[in-house]
Amino acid sequence: MRSKIVPVTNVSRLTEAANALLERAPGMPGMGLIHGETGYGKTTAVTWLITRVNGVYVRALATTTPSSLLAGIARELDLQPRPSNVQTVEAIVQKLAITGRPLFIDEADYLVENKRTVETLRDIHDLATVPVVLIGMAGIQRRIQSRQQLTGRIAQWVEFQPCSFEDVQALSRELAEVGIADDILKRVYELTRGSVRLIVVALNRIEGYARARGLSAIALKDWPANADFFLGNAPRATQPRAKPALAAV
Ligand SMILES: Nc1ncnc2c1ncn2[C@@H]1O[C@H](COP(=O)(O)OP(=O)(O)OP(=O)(O)O)[C@@H](O)[C@H]1O
Ligand SMILES: [Mg+2]
Repeated sequence: MRSKIVPVTNVSRLTEAANALLERAPGMPGMGLIHGETGYGKTTAVTWLITRVNGVYVRALATTTPSSLLAGIARELDLQPRPSNVQTVEAIVQKLAITGRPLFIDEADYLVENKRTVETLRDIHDLATVPVVLIGMAGIQRRIQSRQQLTGRIAQWVEFQPCSFEDVQALSRELAEVGIADDILKRVYELTRGSVRLIVVALNRIEGYARARGLSAIALKDWPANADFFLGNAPRATQPRAKPALAAV
């Protein structure tokens, strides 16, 4: 398998939203929220985007506090530690305002219950006037409804969707080093319900099977009826899908 980030539909949608935030009119709110089921490719898409927009990436943890969040952002900005949170916020705001770099906070689910952390992010957004984008699990959009100091500033909401069949074909074309026929990709698409994490696992297994047998291309007829494409179960699709025409192998 090749190691690269494929610009699937969700990546394009995220890029559009980021461009809208970066090009917003002066004075307009510039926060964004990216949400979606686990394994739908949020972190990967953000990683891709960050290299293009020179973004600052920080990942929250279950143990994150306002101080540790500020320390993490300061580290990413190559700022020396400051004695107080107030001074750290000032230094961060100054650096972001000068550079115009957008700030991305992954696993933001850990933060939204903490009023002071939410207020700190709001302050950074308002004072530095750079985009601040939160990335969270499906359901985070409901959990922050009560935080009006955030929701009023969120100008871009991006819900990650299951991959389309064209996305599965693109992932196969770009990542797999053997040819994988559409009939087998169709089966992968149905069984994974559009989870890019599971699609990549399945492509890896199919490629491994083909290579072990010296095949440069593989179709459904070559795949053993009793073999699984991946370990674990596909996550529930966010939108109801037609029942797969083919049973799981
Ligand atoms: N655009 C892509 N191109 C290639 N591989 C991808 C892409 N998106 C996701 N993947 C693969 O799928 C895996 C899962 O994606 P990722 O970790 O980005 O999902 P996530 O939505 O952030 O999940 P979680 O909510 O659990 O954090 C990645 O480790 C990577 O292997
Ligand atoms: Mg993630």
